[in-house]
This record gives sequence, structure tokens and C-alpha cells, in this order.
Amino acid sequence: MDRAVNANWQGFWDDLPHESGLAVWDSAPEVTAVAHLPLFEQHFAVDLPVLDIGCGNGTQSAALAGHFERVLGLDFAPSAIAHAQALQAAAGVEFRTFDLADVAGARALHAELGDVNVYMRGVLHQMPDERRGDAAAALAVLLGNGGHLFAVELSPAAGLTIKDAISEGPSAVPKMRQVFKHNLTPAAWDEGKLEAVLAGAGLAVVESGAVVLESTDTLANGDRLDLPMNYVVARRG
Ligand SMILES: C[S@@+](CC[C@H](N)C(=O)[O-])C[C@H]1O[C@@H](n2cnc3c(N)ncnc32)[C@H](O)[C@@H]1O
Repeated sequence: MDRAVNANWQGFWDDLPHESGLAVWDSAPEVTAVAHLPLFEQHFAVDLPVLDIGCGNGTQSAALAGHFERVLGLDFAPSAIAHAQALQAAAGVEFRTFDLADVAGARALHAELGDVNVYMRGVLHQMPDERRGDAAAALAVLLGNGGHLFAVELSPAAGLTIKDAISEGPSAVPKMRQVFKHNLTPAAWDEGKLEAVLAGAGLAVVESGAVVLESTDTLANGDRLDLPMNYVVARRG
């Protein structure tokens, strides 16, 4: 296990007060999970639990709980789970620590829950490449034969947008700067990698497309930082 990346995420969440909207991606659900629903809900069998993997402070998990019977928010950073439990106590979501690159942990979770659907936003794009294969294998275990994955990730092109925004000067994108302060690596991949990683674990893409991440951060001129994302709906092939 790459402990450095776990520690980086733990440090990121430790540094933030328990308050919504402070992370650059922590946008309102109306422009995030709720806006994504039409892209995947027809694929999610209603009797399966929904896992929000890499749930962070649980903003999107709580919104999903308004639409699905049972939602679990999972994140490998205990500090993220503490944020989620503090901010979303009334949402009816069960928050737990879980490392997506832990295939044995995924097997144990599948033994407990059976097949699940997965909502996952902004997790694979920043993961070290050597962990992505295990993450996809874990997803395949969790989905089983009946579940679907909705994954929405920063596109490789977002890397250039971020670089340009940072080069505007110290007043631009303060929340994005927090990400780099903790040695996290947004959009660290190439075109087609999302599909290739999933295919490596036998996951077939049934739908795909592009959406915009309406971030909580601002450029030097006060405009919102928007970032390109790609999404897929996938299942075991
Ligand atoms: C960019 S944030 C997105 C948070 C949330 N999905 C959202 O949209 O607000 C990525 C989250 O994934 C978590 N994460 C990263 N790698 C993970 C892994 N291997 N297993 C579980 N969580 C992970 C981080 O701790 C962080 O909270």
C-alpha cells in the first residue's frame, strides 16, 4: 500500500475546518450528484445499496441518500470520514473507512452487502497509477454481476486548465493551491486511461460522456474555476 498518498489525503482533510464548500470540488449537489442522476439512475437497480467511494466530506453521499434507499459513504482517510460524520449526521448515510485499492477489503464488503451500485467522483484521476489496477479489481468485486458503476473523473485536459489558473498569480484559485500543498496530483493521467483501467478488471463501459465540474474556487478575475470531467457507466462485461 502506498502510505504516502493516504497520508497526503489525511493531511488535506485534517487542515480543513468541518465546513462545506471549502474543498475546491465541494460544489452543491444540485450541480453535482443531483445533476448527474439522469446519467446513471436508470442503470442502478433500486434494490441494491449505493456506495459513494472516495466520499470526502459526504456532500454528495447525503444528496444520493435523498434518492436511494441505502447509501454508504466510504473514504480511506479517517479525517474525511470525521468531516462527513460531523457535516452529514442527519442524512441517513453510513460513513466508513475503506481503501478502494484493498481488494481483500472489497471482498469482505461484498460478502456483507452483496452486489452494489457505485457512485464515484474524482478518485481514480488522482490515484497513483500502480494502485489503479487494484482499485478497478475492487470495483469489479463490489459490483458483482448485478451492480453498475458511475465514475466521473477529471479529464486529462483539466491538468492544463489548472496550470493556467495557477499561473494567473497568488490570488487565483486559493482552494486548488491547497490540493498541491498536500502533494495531491489532480488529472494525472492520459486520454482513454479511465476506460483502459476499468477494462483491465473486466468492466465494460455502457455509457460515457463529458460534464463540467463547477468548482467552489475562483480565478484571478473572480470568475468560477470550471474543469472538464469525463464520466462512464460501467458493469461487469
Ligand atoms: C477529489 S476528492 C472527492 C470527494 C468526493 N467524491 C466529492 O465529490 O466531493 C477524492 C476523495 O477520494 C478519497 N480517496 C482517494 N483515494 C482513495 C482510495 N484509494 N480509497 C478510498 N478513498 C480514496 C480522498 O480521501 C478524497 O476524500
